[in-house]
Amino acid sequence: MRIIEANNYQEMSNLAAEYIIKKIHHTPQMNLGLATGSTPLGTYSEMIEDYEENRTSYAHVRTFNLDEYVGLEINHPNSYKYFMKENLFDHINIAEEHTHIPNGTASNIEKECQAYEDLIENQGGIDLQILGIGNNGHIGFNEPRTPFESKTHKVKLAESTRMANARFFNSIQEVPTHAITMGISTILKSKEILLLVSGEGKSEAVKQLLNGQKNENFPASVLNIHQNVTIIGDKKALAGI
Ligand code: GLP
Repeated sequence: MRIIEANNYQEMSNLAAEYIIKKIHHTPQMNLGLATGSTPLGTYSEMIEDYEENRTSYAHVRTFNLDEYVGLEINHPNSYKYFMKENLFDHINIAEEHTHIPNGTASNIEKECQAYEDLIENQGGIDLQILGIGNNGHIGFNEPRTPFESKTHKVKLAESTRMANARFFNSIQEVPTHAITMGISTILKSKEILLLVSGEGKSEAVKQLLNGQKNENFPASVLNIHQNVTIIGDKKALAGI
């Protein structure tokens, strides 16, 4: 695991955007795995800025998001589909049909999960997966005790995750109780993983991840067995290591 330390959130975002853009220049038709949450927002803004300066084309890039809430309409401001459009897709030259997010409003969620898993595989797998981490070590929406061999599946969100994400909603009652997420084995199949961590609040999680023990109680610990993981974190998030 490589660790790149940035002084602050802005520098982390610049470094992450540069990292991703470099890969796209190298492989313009890459399959890019994307994450939501506040951590990658600055990275996406930097990617947009770079695009506006005509430096990068997304015409041949395909994207695959990690997860989506179950039951939120796609134009609900808190759906991850909406989040991605607002914060990245609407500002770069990516074709809508090249952007993939699990459909949380599908009538048959189990079927949707299988279809999403198959789609990723049929498109050749993910070249670079961007990840954030939850305070309890969740990646995507894989909560503690999710089997490491899990594929894309429906999850019941931990109360702590609903509480952490309630800040985006009017109240905790509005936060969906379930989500679809790529499984841990789906994430692990990515050829490369870029984990972004920022702020004091994540330092415990980073510390636990780097203690090296693989444990289903702490989903992110599975990254210790992947061959190509880079962490870009700011000083505060990396303080405990
Ligand atoms: C959500 C997302 C995760 C994300 C996590 C951390 O639960 N499903 O993919 O990594 O939140 O979010 P933040 O970056 O806002 O701390």
